Amino acid sequence: MADEEKKEQPYLLEMLNITKEFPGVKALDGVKLQVAPGSVHALMGENGAGKSTLMKCLFGIYCKDAGQILYQGKEVNFQNPKEALDAGISMVHQELNQVLERSVMENIFLGRFPTKFGIIDDKAMYTRSKEIFDDLGINVDPKRKIGDLSVSQRQMIEIAKAVSYDSKILIFDEPTSSLSEKEVEDLFVIINKLRERGLGMVYISHKMDEIFRISDDITIMRDGKWVFTGKAKDMNMDQIISLMVGRPMTNRFPEKTHKPTGEVVLKVENLSGEYQPTVIDASFELRAGEILGISGLVGARRTELVETIFGLRKRKSGRIFYKGKELTINKPLQAIKNDFALLTEERRANGIFADLSVVFNSTIAHLDAYSKFGVLNEAKMKKDTQWVIDSMAVKTPSQRQQIGNLSGGNQQKVIIGRWLLNEPEVLMMDEPTRGIDVGAKYEIYKLIDELAARGKAVIFISSEMPELLGVADRIMVMSNGHVAGIVNTAETNQEEMMRLSAKYL
Ligand SMILES: Nc1ncnc2c1ncn2[C@@H]1O[C@H](COP(=O)(O)OP(=O)(O)OP(=O)(O)O)[C@@H](O)[C@H]1O
Ligand SMILES: [Mg+2]
Repeated sequence: MADEEKKEQPYLLEMLNITKEFPGVKALDGVKLQVAPGSVHALMGENGAGKSTLMKCLFGIYCKDAGQILYQGKEVNFQNPKEALDAGISMVHQELNQVLERSVMENIFLGRFPTKFGIIDDKAMYTRSKEIFDDLGINVDPKRKIGDLSVSQRQMIEIAKAVSYDSKILIFDEPTSSLSEKEVEDLFVIINKLRERGLGMVYISHKMDEIFRISDDITIMRDGKWVFTGKAKDMNMDQIISLMVGRPMTNRFPEKTHKPTGEVVLKVENLSGEYQPTVIDASFELRAGEILGISGLVGARRTELVETIFGLRKRKSGRIFYKGKELTINKPLQAIKNDFALLTEERRANGIFADLSVVFNSTIAHLDAYSKFGVLNEAKMKKDTQWVIDSMAVKTPSQRQQIGNLSGGNQQKVIIGRWLLNEPEVLMMDEPTRGIDVGAKYEIYKLIDELAARGKAVIFISSEMPELLGVADRIMVMSNGHVAGIVNTAETNQEEMMRLSAKYL
């Protein structure tokens, strides 16, 4: 029966037996992916499983070592992205790669500017951009400088750009990692339209709910190998997770071993920021050994709150106390000196030195700890880096590997490890598990729990309510810059949190 189906519906794209090796890493080992027209094919697997590499082999960024790619029944081998684009394949990349000084529309038409009498036709570029934006529900002036936009807007622009090529195949590599719920909805409307028009789409994401909502077929990879392909409607979450990690995962959250003590480590009093959008009159306390979750909708200004505490944003009024002593924090260095650490949300953009090694990226936050009389203690750097690699289960062939060569999720794990190495007293984490696979999420929860068990105080921002309910002791819900309420995790539920999120809208 399966064969008959195949005859009725030839695949738009077939990747067969694809193999790709990097020095020390077999990234792809006989992988298979078959995409039907008018369908969304989810590609799933843990960080480093080879998802992005497979798509880059198709798109002409990498050259496969072996295997066959059939596009509309004919064998193809794109040598560069331009060839792929010309043939009707476009891709939304996991990493944003935009020219920040240029305008939105210039970024969209980079390398293919419309011209009139040999000069770039700004008007045509503007009109065409506007059309795509209206279609996608994007409310951005195409003439604005792209560097002035928020990360979520920039991600939407990337999607618009990929759609603008009128391709037959569209690849989305974690397109929603920093989108708001509304933006995700807009994207899904577009994807559904494109599906009706007969496009074949590959959709990579670590978000299970998205996968079930949007995909027709699911292919799962593990350690560079094809593991399973099936219809989304016949599969469930537990099945997918166990195929991804190679064993059944009975618990999504580790058992709590920490217990908040009475000592108030951080006290924030009526904190407001200077520049909009900002936090307004926020007050709360954080105790030693406590994990305080911060929940809220995109735009609730959770990031603004922690960045203001950390001195990254200017404070207008309010006071911050650390173990009873008032602190003046006007810049991050002062926060760091007081044993505060902040894992920022935009770590992919800000936190990574792509050309440098895993060692450098692991230890950079506290290099002074490794030098004595100007001599670097390399043994200690190596040992600490190994700790980061082991405790975060970073997939890398060696400590010397350029971090830019690791998979997106594994780069993030290194950055998280960097801050954990410090043993900060107050650790603030902004969406630490975004883009990280289920197995690694579990490891991060465990590390946070262990830190708290050692008496550290943790602030954990997340947009995933189940995650906060599974990990935090208390949850502070923010709404439009205000603290809408602080609830005990054991006594609350998603409905109450949603209600609080809307309090100041
Ligand atoms: N340019 C490169 N040089 C060396 N190794 C690489 C390179 N690109 C990818 N790799 C390795 O290939 C493997 C697969 O990486 P890939 O980026 O495809 O994973 P992924 O499934 O997309 O993971 P994630 O969910 O974290 O994005 C990883 O071990 C990675 O370190
Ligand atoms: Mg990837």
